[in-house]
Amino acid sequence: MSIKKSVNDFLTRLSGKLDGGGEKAIEKQKKKGKNTARERVEDLLLDEGTFLETDLFVEHSVKDFGMDRKELAGDGVITGYGKVRNRPVAVFAQDFTVAGGSLGRAHSKKIVKVMDIAAEAGIPLIGINDSGGARIQEGVESLCGYGEIFYRNTKLSGVVPQISVILGPCAGGAVYSPALTDFVFVVDTISNMFITGPQVIKTVLGEDITQEELGGAMTQASITGNAHFYGKSEADAFNTLKKLLSFLPANSKEAPPVSKPILPANPLGDDVIPDNRRQAYCVKEIIRGIVDASDFLEVQEHYARNMVVGFARLAGRPVGIIANQPRVLAGVLDVNASDKAARFIRFCDCFNIPLLTMVDTPGYLPGADQEHAGVIRHGAKILYAYSEASVPKMTIIMRKAYGGAYIAMCSRHLGATFVASWPCGEIAVMGPEGAANIIFRKEIAAADDPEACRQEKISEYEEKFANPYVAAKKGYIDTIIRSSETRDTLIKVLSTVRQSRTGHPHGNIPL
Ligand code: HXC
Repeated sequence: MSIKKSVNDFLTRLSGKLDGGGEKAIEKQKKKGKNTARERVEDLLLDEGTFLETDLFVEHSVKDFGMDRKELAGDGVITGYGKVRNRPVAVFAQDFTVAGGSLGRAHSKKIVKVMDIAAEAGIPLIGINDSGGARIQEGVESLCGYGEIFYRNTKLSGVVPQISVILGPCAGGAVYSPALTDFVFVVDTISNMFITGPQVIKTVLGEDITQEELGGAMTQASITGNAHFYGKSEADAFNTLKKLLSFLPANSKEAPPVSKPILPANPLGDDVIPDNRRQAYCVKEIIRGIVDASDFLEVQEHYARNMVVGFARLAGRPVGIIANQPRVLAGVLDVNASDKAARFIRFCDCFNIPLLTMVDTPGYLPGADQEHAGVIRHGAKILYAYSEASVPKMTIIMRKAYGGAYIAMCSRHLGATFVASWPCGEIAVMGPEGAANIIFRKEIAAADDPEACRQEKISEYEEKFANPYVAAKKGYIDTIIRSSETRDTLIKVLSTVRQSRTGHPHGNIPL
């Protein structure tokens, strides 16, 4: 064949490959408000013109299941690599217009190849999921494909960042690849995740439930905590994903990227904690008063809201922030808050991101519900994650740091690099009211005016124990600072301590 002929032949073969499942299927995809796999990769995720596609010519490999090879462009998945804001990433996007994006043997081999590229190059892996799950016609071939993907997700955990974007159905065991990755994005009315769908639930349990109720985007973001980011649209989700990547190094051997420092829009004053000790406030406003440009990227915003976690910068350097939220359940630690914090701490530790812990919590939530839900086991995860973490760990005690929660929220005793308290910090075994009722019970009962006596004892206790000075005198906290000094103090610490982790490597799934 002449050169000219071979080029023409190539172009003819190519054109069919780029059209996914064809006009009708694309129209159906669009009607659901969804972009095509190629639009997602080339227009929404990657920098223009940077996509290098791999395995475009791979064909459906299992013949005997009545599927026409030609209909299965790229076997239902687009793979390759490119750049996001000029930084390389590996990517795959399942194409629902081709056999429902179902995962067959060739499809899984393409994903596995791109995962191996991410491992070898030390670059983040981004997976876009839009699939009916295991390709039924290929039986065990598709199951083995999933197994090979799960295996790599696990091996890559803590080595390169792995991000999943759910942009359609993600059903059956297929949900476990996203669950093994570091961050899961979902999009309003588009994403669905479940192990067994509504039809199976109806058959087995006789219950009626819609796909949306069972595993829709907000359900995954708020009730289950399976999703870390909730987007209003596909474009919104990809914009947040790009922002997320801006905080992360390409792999666990690198330092996170440093940006130009920008002062917070509303720096903290000295009056940020309400005079009334029982009054709630929003810890996110405090965080915004400390960090560069008041810019805080919250992770799992809608889940376990009594614990706030997310990324920000201090003098241009990324930090991972873990903060009790006094506005929700007074900032108690419970099963879900413990899981949320522990996983985030482990992620930051994997990728050399220093931790900043902001403490105002009355302790672990008491009660049979929590005990029976395993608060001992789940609560231990915070202790483990903080103790294990070897990145710089900075702690600010804002107000209450009572009991086990004082220890758990990155105390010096768990290896904190630096601990400071604001003057209104209360470091004690329990709150003054509870403590006074217990230790002065007899005196209060015998008093002429028990209520006045109780108040007096509470004040006495506050003065003696519920302050930061007892801990400071013993060196358990390094210093006491005004809230207005917090940002400058933290920046001094960060510029002094060693920058990267030193501990043993670990993955991201908590224990
Ligand atoms: C083969 C599939 C498929 C699958 C969808 N298709 N899922 N083909 N294997 N798993 C095909 C359909 O036959 C159809 O082909 C096309 O994709 C589009 O699907 P529709 O049903 O028309 O789309 P829609 O109405 O939007 O419904 C989407 C859906 C539904 C909810 C995902 O297709 C569905 O319920 N699929 C099966 C889901 C499932 O149970 N998967 C297996 C899970 S078990 P045509 O030719 O008509 O266009 C699993 C095990 C993994 O994944 C284990 C790992 C450990």
